[in-house]
Amino acid sequence: MQLVVLILMSLKMPFRDILNWRLVKAVICAYPVLLSGLAVAQPVNPKDLDVDRGAYLARVGDCIACHTAGPQSPPFAGGLPLNSPFGIIYSTNITPDPVNGIGKYTLDEFTRAVRNGIARDGRRLYPAMPYPSFTAVTDDDIRALYAYFMNEVAPVNLKPPETRLPFPFNIRLSLIFWDAAFVRHERYHARNDKDAQWNRGAYLVQTLGHCGACHTPRGFGFQERAYTESSPIYLSGGLVDNWFAVNLRGDAAAGLGQWSEADIAAFLKTGHGGHIAAFGSMVEVIENSTQHFQKVDLDAIAHYLKSIPGRAEKASYKPAAPIVAVKLSAMVTGETEHPGAGLYQSFCAKCHQMTGTGKPGKSPKLAGNSVVLSGKATSLIRLMLEGGRTAQTKGGPKVQKMPGFAKKFTDQQIAEVLSFIRDSWGNKAAPVTTREVFLLRHTLPKKM
Ligand code: HEC
Ligand code: HEC
Ligand code: HEC
Repeated sequence: MQLVVLILMSLKMPFRDILNWRLVKAVICAYPVLLSGLAVAQPVNPKDLDVDRGAYLARVGDCIACHTAGPQSPPFAGGLPLNSPFGIIYSTNITPDPVNGIGKYTLDEFTRAVRNGIARDGRRLYPAMPYPSFTAVTDDDIRALYAYFMNEVAPVNLKPPETRLPFPFNIRLSLIFWDAAFVRHERYHARNDKDAQWNRGAYLVQTLGHCGACHTPRGFGFQERAYTESSPIYLSGGLVDNWFAVNLRGDAAAGLGQWSEADIAAFLKTGHGGHIAAFGSMVEVIENSTQHFQKVDLDAIAHYLKSIPGRAEKASYKPAAPIVAVKLSAMVTGETEHPGAGLYQSFCAKCHQMTGTGKPGKSPKLAGNSVVLSGKATSLIRLMLEGGRTAQTKGGPKVQKMPGFAKKFTDQQIAEVLSFIRDSWGNKAAPVTTREVFLLRHTLPKKM
């Protein structure tokens, strides 16, 4: 286009002007610029850019995890049963199918569903859909998500099972009050006392990443008790679906106090970092979502999390050689004060080592391990009962398995061995009681 105009202009110019050297030079210099202008002006459709960005943002929001029924099911077609204290809530079909999916949603209707928890037909959505976090997502990001779902996701004509909660939770209209009481409908406000990296991290963690949906404790209405770092409760650890999503604040033992930013980024990328191997529900978060994050975003999240101060915690970790020595002799003599020592020696030491140092790349170190020291032992008990496996990521270490002990150990033995590892090698955290193990064993779905 510009080139044509230029040629026309030069044709209309008097001959002596064409010979004007300055003009010729200007045209020669402008030529590459004009050409590159032509190249850029070619088919870059803003919609395509949106679709790619939307695909990435859907990863960040982990839409696939909840909106896909299982590994063999079509992506985004819904039907995954989600446990809530009120009963089972089934996720819905968010493929662009016009009958069973969101094919008829306009951008405005999509925005209202994702941010305000109101479906196209006016139905209030249960907050099992993390719209209280998504409400802070920017207009640009919502538009990109919409472009992705409408253009790139394959429509699937499948109707997921209907959610039928018992009275009074089946009355969706009452969610208006829940929403009014617990959700602040505001976009993310950048803090100008913080740099761009911090704000990017805060945005990802608080909005699409919805890390607080698991890591922030819930209140009496099952609402997250805080949505930003301005509250000392934010990300201090939450119980979801019988996993305890540990404290992500700066506490030295049970939090991320001893983790470096690089540890956090590596953990989110591969499921290994800060001496921890991810397990339980975090494994799926890593596999479906965080392993796909761009490095700048992982670094931003790590930077943001490391800025959140700890709360006064009860657990501690003091690596001290003499303590190790005492504990090791206690194990050999079977000292009664540490009844878990013998169990540890027989069943755990071959992988985690007598010194609690684990084997790099094989089994995690338990000394100073922030999950071992965590305030609530729920995840540890569940891991002991069911066993677990590490995350499978692109480029990360091979999957490692920890055996389950539900059949081998009594409730008391599980309590003893966990109390032992929480009080050895410099670890100091509250003991685990037999009753805690008993209660969890009878709450978990029977698969052992
Ligand atoms: C933690 C689980 C979870 C995640 C993550 C999640 N959703 Fe949902 N979503 C749900 C559930 C459950 C429902 C149905 C709620 C109901 O029936 O009240 C739902 C409903 C919806 C609806 C309403 C559709 C309809 O007509 O019923 C839309 C749109 C939606 N989600 C989009 C998304 C997008 C986009 C993402 C990712 C950015 C996402 N969801 C991530 C659980 C989730
Ligand atoms: C579905 C629930 C869930 C969501 C969502 C979730 N987590 Fe987790 N997370 C857990 C559980 C459970 C653990 C404890 C088990 C473990 O350490 O692997 C955990 C552990 C962690 C740990 C290890 C901390 C430690 O001290 O051991 C980090 C770091 C972490 N999560 C970061 C995040 C970030 C960042 C996000 C958001 C992008 C997030 N998590 C979202 C459930 C969740
Ligand atoms: C065959 C080797 C093996 C044995 C035996 C074993 N573990 Fe593990 N353990 C693992 C692996 C691998 C993981 C990581 C699991 C995961 O990420 O899901 C793990 C994880 C753990 C964790 C969570 C720490 C973390 O960072 O993930 C604790 C606590 C633990 N084991 C305690 C024990 C106790 C107590 C015993 C004995 C009763 C035991 N383990 C026996 C291999 C083993």
